[in-house]
Amino acid sequence: MKVFISGNIAESGLKLLEENNISITKWTEPRQITADELIATCQDFDALVSVGPNKIDAAFLNACSHLKVIGLHSVGFDNVDVAEAKKLNIPIGNTPGVLSGATADTAFLLMLAVSRKAFYLHKKIIKGDWQNYEPTPELGIELNGKTLGVFGMGKIGLEMAKKCIGAYQMQVIYHNRNRNTEAEKEIGARYVSYGELLAQSDVLSVHTALTPETKDKFDLQSFKQMKSNAIFINTARGGIHNEVDLIKALEEKIIWGAGLDVTNPEPMQADNPLLSMESVAVLPHIGSATEETRSAMANLVAKNVIAGLKGEALPHQV
Ligand code: DGY
Repeated sequence: MKVFISGNIAESGLKLLEENNISITKWTEPRQITADELIATCQDFDALVSVGPNKIDAAFLNACSHLKVIGLHSVGFDNVDVAEAKKLNIPIGNTPGVLSGATADTAFLLMLAVSRKAFYLHKKIIKGDWQNYEPTPELGIELNGKTLGVFGMGKIGLEMAKKCIGAYQMQVIYHNRNRNTEAEKEIGARYVSYGELLAQSDVLSVHTALTPETKDKFDLQSFKQMKSNAIFINTARGGIHNEVDLIKALEEKIIWGAGLDVTNPEPMQADNPLLSMESVAVLPHIGSATEETRSAMANLVAKNVIAGLKGEALPHQV
């Protein structure tokens, strides 16, 4: 059996595949493989490990309907036409659970960095602008006892909430499609409407999937309902906030700050106005990028592919 990996995954996952006599070919160029290249390449393979934002859409799936399994090296599957895959009987695996802690760490890191303008001040030193000790330079805001609003209380949202309670005794409110009564019991999170989430959050952190319902959910109208000293954090998908509206909301001080691990489009261009704002921190989609988590993701994607090639149920099927 032969698998094509459209990027690089941790050694432990490659080893698992090899131990199961699966031959591996990796995409090694520094750019993302194009849609046409992916279709052409996959003709010679039995399985695909999709690394990065490859479009696993109807065109790809129909052109590659011979694939026995597709393993996503991600928990997110907004790039996949799941209904079409189901129709064609191609199982799609993903990697939930193993990346919750690392992704929540990234949200927490962004929250703290934004609250103290850390990325902006770091750049100031690099530019040679640290002249003197000043008692009231660009001041931050404190997080202790503030209200965290979680949009999407799943595994990652819950981890973020726990960190905020542990570190800053924050009150947690959340908004979801369905109530998460376990989170309510476990950490005392309070379910609120979307409007209440906007109005009451000091920090609003996004942990939901990108779907037609959540696309552009955080637009100017939403930002206008938030507190003027609120911090917006998104480590989920860039399409969930409207970037033009976010820039306007920050420029016009409708909200105080923003921390993004995901942007729209990705990669973000170096001249994006967000990158020079004081209370903004941006990271290049590194939510789950720790050695431990990437290794766990590689193991899970390998297990999904091995199971799919054997015609067995995947450990984690979308
Ligand atoms: C995920 O797992 O969905 C990460 O965002 C990587 O794409």
